Amino acid sequence: MTRYDAVEAGSYRLAREIALEGLSSWRDAVAPHLLPERVVLDLGAGTGLFVRAFGSWFPDVPVIAVEPSADMRAASGLPMLAGDACSVPLDAGSVDVVWMSTVIHHVRDLPAAGAELRRVLRPGGVVVLRSLFRERHSGIGLFRFFPEAVRALTGFPTVGEVADGLGFAAERLEPVPQVTALSLADKVSTVRQEADTLLRSLSAQEFAAGLERLRAAAAVESGPVVDHLDLLVLKPVGGV
Ligand SMILES: C[S@@+](CC[C@H](N)C(=O)[O-])C[C@H]1O[C@@H](n2cnc3c(N)ncnc32)[C@H](O)[C@@H]1O
Repeated sequence: MTRYDAVEAGSYRLAREIALEGLSSWRDAVAPHLLPERVVLDLGAGTGLFVRAFGSWFPDVPVIAVEPSADMRAASGLPMLAGDACSVPLDAGSVDVVWMSTVIHHVRDLPAAGAELRRVLRPGGVVVLRSLFRERHSGIGLFRFFPEAVRALTGFPTVGEVADGLGFAAERLEPVPQVTALSLADKVSTVRQEADTLLRSLSAQEFAAGLERLRAAAAVESGPVVDHLDLLVLKPVGGV
């Protein structure tokens, strides 16, 4: 498990959290799964971006947040339980949807996590992932400025590895756009190497060179920065 300590947690809200308006396609994409009174577990909730988003978009959907890093929990300012994908502090059969946003690449023991997700899910429950997968990275604009960051993709699982590892079957897979920043200039002001798994793989020189390329582009290009992550919906093979 990648450790998110106080430094990462401090940068995360600034560098990685996206304004809710920029996530409107995600609201539409997850709406069929987040139905009133169906309990959602936000697993690896980080600094609470989606706890706040779901609370605003779907006020009738109860959300329980679980997050392993004490510093991320503290930075969220929200009630969150300590736990991780292999140890969820909830009763068996207590949730309808497990939501994991940019978390699955941190989970080292997928079979153990799959058993735990199966335990907490109610019959008919689903796992909904928002993620970058190794074989599907064309929607990430960061590589244009920081090309060496593709090295970090080796640490990301493929869709098949996640599904097979967890023991779940893919039911829905599609790229979903998001407005990551209002402009490249905006991105320059918020980018933080320590807040992003892809950027953390870079040397100081590689990061500095990429930042220069980003600054140069920001000086001449306007318009929103749009990236795509994948939505992957999984169902337990053979039911829970
Ligand atoms: C990139 S952040 C994503 C935070 C949040 N889900 C979001 O989308 O803003 C990854 C989070 O996963 C957490 N994490 C790392 N390993 C985990 C694991 N094995 N189970 C659950 N969460 C984990 C980290 O502590 C961190 O808060």
